[in-house]
Amino acid sequence: MNTAANAGLPAFDAGFLRDPYPAYRALREAGPLHWCEDFFQGAWLVTRHEDVERVLRDQRFSSQRTGGWVKRTEGLDAAHGGGYAAARSKGGLDRFQRLFSRAMVFLDAPDHTRLRRAMLGGFHPATIRDLAPEIERLADEILDGLDGEQGFDFIEMVARPLPSRVIGLMLGISRADEAQFIAWSEELAVFIGAVRPDMEQLQHAQRSLMQLVRYFDALIETRRRKPGIDLVSRLVQAEQQGLVRADGELLAQCAMLLFAGHETTRNLLGNGLFTLLSHPGQWQALCAQPDGMNAAVREILRYDSPVQYTGRRVSREIEMHGHTLRRGELVIALIGSANRDPARYSEPERFDIARGEGSHLAFGSGPHVCIGAGLSMLEADITLRALMRRWPGLRLTDAEPRWNGNAALRGLLRLPVRCVGTGKGAGVQESCQPRPEASMPVM
Ligand code: HEM
Repeated sequence: MNTAANAGLPAFDAGFLRDPYPAYRALREAGPLHWCEDFFQGAWLVTRHEDVERVLRDQRFSSQRTGGWVKRTEGLDAAHGGGYAAARSKGGLDRFQRLFSRAMVFLDAPDHTRLRRAMLGGFHPATIRDLAPEIERLADEILDGLDGEQGFDFIEMVARPLPSRVIGLMLGISRADEAQFIAWSEELAVFIGAVRPDMEQLQHAQRSLMQLVRYFDALIETRRRKPGIDLVSRLVQAEQQGLVRADGELLAQCAMLLFAGHETTRNLLGNGLFTLLSHPGQWQALCAQPDGMNAAVREILRYDSPVQYTGRRVSREIEMHGHTLRRGELVIALIGSANRDPARYSEPERFDIARGEGSHLAFGSGPHVCIGAGLSMLEADITLRALMRRWPGLRLTDAEPRWNGNAALRGLLRLPVRCVGTGKGAGVQESCQPRPEASMPVM
């Protein structure tokens, strides 16, 4: 195990979870690479854009890292009088780890390449474009039920249900089961995103995963007998063609997709609306020129990334910035920090929908780059346009909203908003009346 100094690093405390950007800045300024005991059981933190991209693209940094989930909970044993051992003896966490370790995001080539190929058709740009009318319908249906002038919690009423309906639609999950799915997935997210999970988080995540497995087992069986046009049917077909292995691989991809498909997009919607409404000039500019939406969504992704970091394990000794990274050590690629690196972006702490400085790392990079990027951008594009059309005078009603405290999957718990028709907008008449704007989103 590496013993490089841990001193001088910022505290990864409640303040960090609310606003990690000052800590990232301090880390970047202190150096490109830090060994930190506070992350999991110790990890290398990679702070700069260039290095984060390199770690994600260089296959010596392996994606097989779920073993650390078992390891990082070992300390819970002593803290809970052996309760963790009891939970683990039931095979809960081991099964959790075994299942997730088969998901393609946690695999290297050639298994990763094989599974990604099996899945790509479901995410082809034309397939995603075909979903646009249905997503628009869903967004309208949700917004129709809200009273803008009275106000509503955007997370609860929009950002939560919309992506879960979309992924439910893609996977062929019935609408009646969606609320249950959100709850299971949220408990998994809390565990996966905890720097040091506690006993309760671990037990909830195990219980949710087992329920999720039972549900998908039944759904997969149904699709084997009666295939449809959803992603699960596509994966069943890939299994029959030998592209997906029968021993749990199919189940693992379903669980991963469900989880990856809405937790992240919810936070893109929530972080996005919060950021836009915190910069009223840019909200108004976008209301007046919604064709800038694609660039705005990209800037939102850069400025406040829903996925703040991802991990890799060193597969063979690597020298980096004067340090020796040893085989087996965990590397945390700090996406949230890379996206604010002044070596890559001018005035990176400034939110600017007209930035035009090229890509960000919010969807990762290299072989594992997010397969759902186009889908989540389409959801954000459609939802934000629909909101602007209806309520260009939308305002935050709570300037200090509550963050979810998840270090990896950054998002808001609540985002109360209300439409105020002042009629004093710059460049657009702020209003609570719908505006005509019907151009198709640009992907
Ligand atoms: C704003 C929304 C999203 C963000 C910020 C995001 C972010 C990411 C990131 C950073 C990665 C790379 C992880 C790594 O290299 O370790 C990734 C991979 C992945 N994402 Fe997303 N994601 C989003 C939405 C989605 C959606 C909607 C889906 C599916 C419906 C999805 C499915 C996946 C899958 C399957 C992978 C693994 C790809 C692979 O291993 O080849 N994501 N995502």
